[in-house]
Amino acid sequence: MNTNIPNTQPKKETGMRSLDQALRPESWTEYIGQPTIKENLRILLSAAKGRGHQPEHVLLYGPPGLGKTTLAHLITKEIGSSLRATSGPAIERVGDLASILTNLSPGDVLFIDEIHRLNRNIEEILYPALEAGVLDIIIGKGPAARTVQLELPPFTLIAATTRISMLSAPLRSRFSGGTFRLAYYSHEEIAEILRRSARILNIEADQDAFMEIARRSRATPRTANYLLKRARDFADVNQEPLSVKTIKKALALLEIDEIGLNQTDRDILSTIIDKFHGGPVGLKSIAATLSEEEATIEEVHEPYLMQIGLIERTPRGRVVTSQGYTHIGYDVPESAQGKLV
Ligand code: ADE
Repeated sequence: MNTNIPNTQPKKETGMRSLDQALRPESWTEYIGQPTIKENLRILLSAAKGRGHQPEHVLLYGPPGLGKTTLAHLITKEIGSSLRATSGPAIERVGDLASILTNLSPGDVLFIDEIHRLNRNIEEILYPALEAGVLDIIIGKGPAARTVQLELPPFTLIAATTRISMLSAPLRSRFSGGTFRLAYYSHEEIAEILRRSARILNIEADQDAFMEIARRSRATPRTANYLLKRARDFADVNQEPLSVKTIKKALALLEIDEIGLNQTDRDILSTIIDKFHGGPVGLKSIAATLSEEEATIEEVHEPYLMQIGLIERTPRGRVVTSQGYTHIGYDVPESAQGKLV
């Protein structure tokens, strides 16, 4: 899945990984926002610690860039164990998952990102592993086939997904430690995250500058940090301070508008309006018209457009709201007048 948002973000950048790692919160106090999730995890982890047992499995879901992986790292640190990280698409065969599970050390945290992309046949071997801590291996074929049960070391699975609806009911029910939905961040929370990032990256900027970036961050820490770095580049190259004015110029060059929409977001709105009379229209048709991946539209672009009320999802498809028309500078037709959010 493409989680690079906005889509102007290059896939690879020298030093990017280490910069991103440097910005990752190291402690619960550094992790801003999501207060309910933090409190639930605190209780789950301290109860497990108090009783001396392995914390139960946790499912984290929500749009990309909101800090699911970061939470997995913090949980691992809290337990004092090691994180084994993999992802749904990386596990291609039953044997891959069996090997990951049997190679865990007692107390490990197994992190499976994009778990919705785990193949159903493979998923089934997770059920007994999560429920009873065992691995059922079938040896042989046909009438001679028999099942051997291997005991696994105690471990905690932390799974993350942007698409909870794609998880099967049996899999969802195995996260006995809890299923938590990460929410979009407020502008104030994003500004606080940016203040910390600026300190780490040695960037000088004031609260107005952080708020300006926050307003254009799609309420998403990953995007906010990305914009901070790009705005700093712009300021450095042009030998300007990182002021509100400079930020506006830098982000205009990246084609990011005042509310953080990028060109693809705006194309989605104008396509629905120009080609499909404002909707309702199905995801497939939007994706085909824009030559974009359905998954990218559904997982990256739509959640935020819906969050800020520019589109709505109806049983018959996607519809642009009156605010959506207004945002891209179109008159609101009568048909969309009732679509006020
Ligand atoms: N990076 C990703 N999520 C974060 C958060 N909640 N607080 C601080 N930095 C973050």
